[in-house]
Amino acid sequence: MVRLAYGGDYNPEQWPEEVWHEDVALMREAGVTMVSVGIFSWAMIEPREGEYDFGRLDRIVGLLHDNGIGVDLATPTVVPPAWFYRAHPEALPVSREGVRWEFGSRGAICHNSPAYQEAAARVTRALGERYGKHPAVTMWHVHNEYGVPVLECYCETSAAAFRRWLRERYTTLDALNAAWGTAFWGQTYHDWEEIAPPRLTPTVCNPAQRLDYRRFAGDSALANFRRERDILHELSPGVPVTTNFMVSPTQCDTIDYWAWAREVDIVTNDHYLVAEEDRNHVNLSMAADLTRSVAGGAPWLLLEHSTSGVNWQPRGIAKRPGEMARNSLAHVARGSEGAMFFQWRASRAGAEKFHSAMVPHAGTDSRVWREVVELGAHLGALEEIRGTRTVADVAVAWDWQSWWAQKLEWRPSEDLDTRERAEAWYAALFDRHLTADFVHPGTDPARLAEYPLLVVPALYLTTKAAGENLRAYVEGGGTLVVSYFSGIVDEHDAVHPGPHPGALRDVLGLTVEEFQPLRKDQKVTVGAAGRPALEGDVWAETVVARGAETVWSYTDGPAAGGPAVTRHRLGRGTAWYVSTRLGRDGLDAVLAEACADAGLAPRDELPHDVEVVRRSGEHGTYLFALNHTGADAKVPLEGAGTELLGGERVAGHLAVPAGGVRVVRLDG
Ligand code: GLA
Repeated sequence: MVRLAYGGDYNPEQWPEEVWHEDVALMREAGVTMVSVGIFSWAMIEPREGEYDFGRLDRIVGLLHDNGIGVDLATPTVVPPAWFYRAHPEALPVSREGVRWEFGSRGAICHNSPAYQEAAARVTRALGERYGKHPAVTMWHVHNEYGVPVLECYCETSAAAFRRWLRERYTTLDALNAAWGTAFWGQTYHDWEEIAPPRLTPTVCNPAQRLDYRRFAGDSALANFRRERDILHELSPGVPVTTNFMVSPTQCDTIDYWAWAREVDIVTNDHYLVAEEDRNHVNLSMAADLTRSVAGGAPWLLLEHSTSGVNWQPRGIAKRPGEMARNSLAHVARGSEGAMFFQWRASRAGAEKFHSAMVPHAGTDSRVWREVVELGAHLGALEEIRGTRTVADVAVAWDWQSWWAQKLEWRPSEDLDTRERAEAWYAALFDRHLTADFVHPGTDPARLAEYPLLVVPALYLTTKAAGENLRAYVEGGGTLVVSYFSGIVDEHDAVHPGPHPGALRDVLGLTVEEFQPLRKDQKVTVGAAGRPALEGDVWAETVVARGAETVWSYTDGPAAGGPAVTRHRLGRGTAWYVSTRLGRDGLDAVLAEACADAGLAPRDELPHDVEVVRRSGEHGTYLFALNHTGADAKVPLEGAGTELLGGERVAGHLAVPAGGVRVVRLDG
């Protein structure tokens, strides 16, 4: 990227050409540097099969180029034209219930359909040939948000592709039968042709089959991404190819972004603030940290978010003044090389006409537009941060596949919730002003060793190898904090042999004799001499310490008298285990001690809900301070620096007005 990216999805095909000229003039006024074009333009550029009409796209790309605005050019393969479905109705995806989704919306794609794959490759090639070397094209945007709204298709073509995928993975039917545990409920397969997708079954379907189907569906979509990417690499050498992710446990649960991030030239992400959520800025930061983490710490780009209300949420709650800038700059603080929006100009027609935009229906005499112009200027003033990397203090383990597995039916309590625990532990770290990287549990212990503290909020599926990594991390001196219902099953959703938590018994120095799920609304208390009593709900366990010391014990409930929170000294490090669902204060109490073990000093001098994050690079360190409260705040500064949004010198402390953002280039 040559500049910090600022702009949005631009859909000029929805407007007469005279509006385009107004658009580019306004883009210049707002300091727009790049727009995403053509995401839904297949029907425009290929009105009939094999017949291309690039007239309008040529003029749009040319106009943007003449005005110095970069083009993030999309392959339009998320919405094949109506003519395509007329010729190939079999390319429409089928739900698990056996219902075929129809044309008339978007994303109705069976990723295993040969007709779709061929047509998508053709239109990608045509675009690459025409625009691959066009100087306006700064990035390629393949497809749109793989994984939403539909990833898994259950049609016959997909069934055949699934069988091929299984043969490659397992080679023999014996291996498949063993992995899926088909001896249970008499499901043994004697011929590959007997195997079908996990369609609707009278009662719970084989969980290992379901887990593999999710993996298979992701691989099918990824193969389609790769096909388009490779065509663009061939025809447009040197131009980065991306596809917009939805890295947020709140917004997309179908894609394993650890795997996908390895396939793109730059990670880009779409994030929509859950407007109604209390302290929604915390989950925004979590999504941004997770995005940076799948990118391996490298700079990434926020490709979509909203200027204000989002029409697909139950209530399209408008952002408060200053909130859009705070949201944007929070992403930037956590590694984004700019801030882009859906979309440039609010649509008059269609399903998203009540979605906010950079140019709202109210036009330019509006708060949103004034803030859009101001944000453009702010990003202009931050140009020098490009290429710097966010500095993390601690790590959190996250694995999409474990989340998928945990969400399947008939777990020991329907209140177990991977996402909820990940968010709760992340929030507890956020409240201690600790910036978190996320790590895949398969990460090499040598890399894990970079973090003094590693939190495992919910890792139901933990492979043997991951368990060994975590053990090596602790033995090498790390401080590990593991929350309940982690380490239970292997990659096939089979319980590890022996007592729970099979993959983590050794590192935690304990076994779990019995799960003790709590009744709805039941609470338990855990106590410890000289420590505050804490409250848990949802879950308890009969824990048997086997090397670990008991720090908090259950004082009531089904596990009364037994260990509730334990600490295991192992090698040069420490492993904590928390066997109940603690609330905010409880998590903080455990973290306070774990942070002390990890040598992380408290940051009590930083005000609550004032987010302080650093980006650092060869040429300096930048401190971002975002005040999410309604009161002016002061952030202590070691030394002095220059505030980039206002230009003034600051020393000793930084004043951050209520709702405001400050960015300081630190001296030295
Ligand atoms: C997604 C899509 C966009 C648009 C926005 C609306 O992120 O990529 O096309 O639908 O949602 O929030």
